[in-house]
Amino acid sequence: MPRPGLDHQLSIDRRLPTGYLAASLRVDVARGLTATPKWLPPRWLYDARGSALFDRITRLPGYYLSSAEREILAATAPEIAAITAADTLIELGSGSSAKTRSLLDALDAAGTLGRYVPVDVSEGALLDAGTALIRDYPRLHVHAVLADFTAGLGGLPAGGRRLVAFFGSTYGNLTPVERAGLLAELRRALAIGDGFLLGIDLIKDPALLVSAYDDPAGITAEFNRNVLYVLNRELGADFRPDAFRYQVRWNPQLERIETWLHAEGAQSVVVRHLALAVDFADGEALRTAISTKFHRAGVQAELERAEFRTTRWWTDRAERFALVLAVPTAG
Ligand code: SAH
Ligand code: AVI
Repeated sequence: MPRPGLDHQLSIDRRLPTGYLAASLRVDVARGLTATPKWLPPRWLYDARGSALFDRITRLPGYYLSSAEREILAATAPEIAAITAADTLIELGSGSSAKTRSLLDALDAAGTLGRYVPVDVSEGALLDAGTALIRDYPRLHVHAVLADFTAGLGGLPAGGRRLVAFFGSTYGNLTPVERAGLLAELRRALAIGDGFLLGIDLIKDPALLVSAYDDPAGITAEFNRNVLYVLNRELGADFRPDAFRYQVRWNPQLERIETWLHAEGAQSVVVRHLALAVDFADGEALRTAISTKFHRAGVQAELERAEFRTTRWWTDRAERFALVLAVPTAG
């Protein structure tokens, strides 16, 4: 039952122009399925089913990224709250906002927090997370922003002491050019006194990296095949998702995990809304995502190039994952 004041506590700011998602999906699919090799950007994995599958991935024993980042946040949230004294917590690619809660708790306990601004391309995820949060945090204002963080950050709220969090190593799902573009946009949006908290997965034994993306129950495989269901539904394509075999590769040159779907048998797929016929040779692969892994020096250099200075570097006890606190510099 709605509570009095709920409308004041939760708002959704729809920053995507009408038809933006439909139009950019068409552009991405037309470009990606005619490229060699074929590929699709990972943001299309996250419809309602994809977001639910990703949530299951975060609880898989082999997918250490989420538990490692939760461990770091549990240990450092009070320190982050004390250093930043943030009144506005903005989170890019917030998803379920589950692991954000320890930071919200710490900022609340420090008495500074007024507003949480989750930013995501999935409206369902924003609504579910926002509804759960205002139930559990009666003093918190949740100002959700439906936006594509690769298309500019001009819509972020201004003023106050802002902390922008980008958890989960979603940063690693971007190419170097996209990462530089995002950091440049972020630097433009932030002022001296604001902070940036970035979660990144660290380079380690490739066998461990690969197994994080290849669970025996096949949930990660199904998460990746989900993009084919999205194309069938949104663009009238006729993919047979079961006819694609999932494969994970470590790319040592580009220091990234790549997830691929291989056609089992030659097949021709029609994407009706694009009037596009796409042929797959037997075994031909479509890349569904990249997940870049980092060394400390590499990520610090990327931040410095974008006029951010690293002020803290925390890892989990097993040193699998890192949380970086950075501040904008004057340039
Ligand atoms: N931060 C959460 C969720 C990570 S899953 C965690 O750490 O567990 C990645 C999230 O980023 C999804 O919710 C997805 O919808 C969102 N996302 C992916 N690409 C995006 C983009 N270009 N713009 C905005 N949100 C995006
Ligand atoms: C959201 N993102 C950081 C996940 C990752 O690890 O790259 C997406 C994912 N893909 C397969 N499993 C998880």
